[in-house]
Amino acid sequence: MKTCRTVASLRQALPAAAGAGIGLVPTMGALHEGHLSLVRGSRRENDITVVSIFVNPAQFGPGEDLQRYPRDPERDSALLAGEGADVLFMPDASQMYPSPYRTYVDVTGLDEKLCGRSRPGHFRGVATIVLKLFNLVRPQRAYFGQKDAQQALIIRQLLRDLDLSVQLRVLPIVRDADGLALSSRNIYLSADQRRAALALPRSLELARDMIAGGQRRSRVVRAAMEAEIAREPLLTVDYIAVVGLDDLEEAAEIVPGHALVAAAVRAGQTRLIDNYLSGDLSC
Ligand code: PAJ
Repeated sequence: MKTCRTVASLRQALPAAAGAGIGLVPTMGALHEGHLSLVRGSRRENDITVVSIFVNPAQFGPGEDLQRYPRDPERDSALLAGEGADVLFMPDASQMYPSPYRTYVDVTGLDEKLCGRSRPGHFRGVATIVLKLFNLVRPQRAYFGQKDAQQALIIRQLLRDLDLSVQLRVLPIVRDADGLALSSRNIYLSADQRRAALALPRSLELARDMIAGGQRRSRVVRAAMEAEIAREPLLTVDYIAVVGLDDLEEAAEIVPGHALVAAAVRAGQTRLIDNYLSGDLSC
């Protein structure tokens, strides 16, 4: 595995031959099995797998956890070498945002909903860094997790709107044995908070079962989830949303195959997200 810390060395490491299947897995590091499942997905379909690790300052708001976001480049690098990744791109902020930096991408209409409401500017930062990575790596395929379903939806829109010929692969949420979706932020949780956090996947299972059982009223599903999470005093709800996949708006009726049930809660300072998707975000 080649490790590149500059844009120039990344350009050198990538094969000049266009058409070699390149898969890109963008991450912020502190890797877990969720990230590694994306690396494996890319290895299955591509000749070359490029993984980026960059804790992107542009997607963190003031007062968010940019400074304390977990970082462990040595462990990450060893994990990626073990998975057979070919190139690890690990730039610093001056490589990605050389001064003066002035260009950002807004995926309007999708970026202020759900997570965007409590994290203004977050998806602008995500879309900008992902477009930059696409331009630098020029992958045939890019791998994202359904864990961040709104992010994947925004990247899908970005690809369509800007005529990029990258195939988007959105892979399933990887969970711990107790059902909690893996996240680099789970290490912030105390034992009690972690136990309480299980109400989040429980509420999504409830939603899934209700929809599978024929319930089509968004409001009824949302209310059942609210009640499930409200039983945990250690959690506060940021949002619970039962929305259509195209516009992330709640419609009275759930349309299976085009629905996203997503929720964000806080346990103390830690914000956790999870979702149930009825449909496919890959393209
Ligand atoms: P990060 O949170 O490190 O996640 C990198 C990728 O791993 C994302 O596509 C995310 O959806 C996926 N992922 C995280 N947890 C997962 C899980 N439990 N199961 C499956 N996949 C999971 O998302 C980001 O970084 C950044 O916003 C980024 C896209 C790198 C842009 O900076």
